[in-house]
Amino acid sequence: MEENVFVFDHPLIQHKVSLLRDKNTSTKEFRELVSEIAMLMAYEVTRDLPLKDVDIETPVAMAHTKMLAGKKLAIVPILRAGLGMVDGMTQLIPNVRVGHIGLYRDPVTVQPVEYYCKMPEDVAERDVIVLDPMLATGGSASAAIGFLKDRGIKHIKFMCLIAAPEGIARLTKDHPDVKIFCAAKDEKLNEHSYIVPGLGDAGDRLFGTN
Ligand code: PRP
Ligand code: URA
Repeated sequence: MEENVFVFDHPLIQHKVSLLRDKNTSTKEFRELVSEIAMLMAYEVTRDLPLKDVDIETPVAMAHTKMLAGKKLAIVPILRAGLGMVDGMTQLIPNVRVGHIGLYRDPVTVQPVEYYCKMPEDVAERDVIVLDPMLATGGSASAAIGFLKDRGIKHIKFMCLIAAPEGIARLTKDHPDVKIFCAAKDEKLNEHSYIVPGLGDAGDRLFGTN
């Protein structure tokens, strides 16, 4: 099955992802970097937003120009680690609605367990961008997207920082309609289903837990 993946090759993103991977990067720096990378990625992820023609009076003349057509959008971070990407996105898209979905990966079975879900009331009418820094086995992302589709959402994109080939394959198989945007495509998973080389546990590094 053909993968629907966009890997960001922008030098600023690659530089910041390298800093993120460094085990000596502090919690403060890690948080800032995740937010900055999400903001840079938002630029590409929203490239297909529709525009409308507008006439704007400049101090010199009328400008026949374009503005956003007001497409209804929502972002949905997967708790916890997806929260780190929200600020960067809302800086670029200030009016975006934010839904939350809580999933954790059972450490023994590695299966996603849902513990929280709160969506904007009209979420079924919105295009949704799901946020999670890590796409490892793909279990969490696939389950989250499944829950959103059950709520009637038709247009979904998935945005992560680091993706493993296994996660990309799983998501492509389960949700071939969902485009994946990632800042880096890594080598593999290890025996604990952590991404190699990855950056470790994104939630722990963001929130200073372990
Ligand atoms: C991490 C990460 C993803 C998931 C990826 O969350 O943020 O949600 O693992 O793994 P998968 O692709 O194999 O499902 P985790 O379960 O550690 O929860 P946390 O964000 O609360 O730390
Ligand atoms: N979740 C993480 O936070 N990191 C990984 O490498 C895999 C899953």
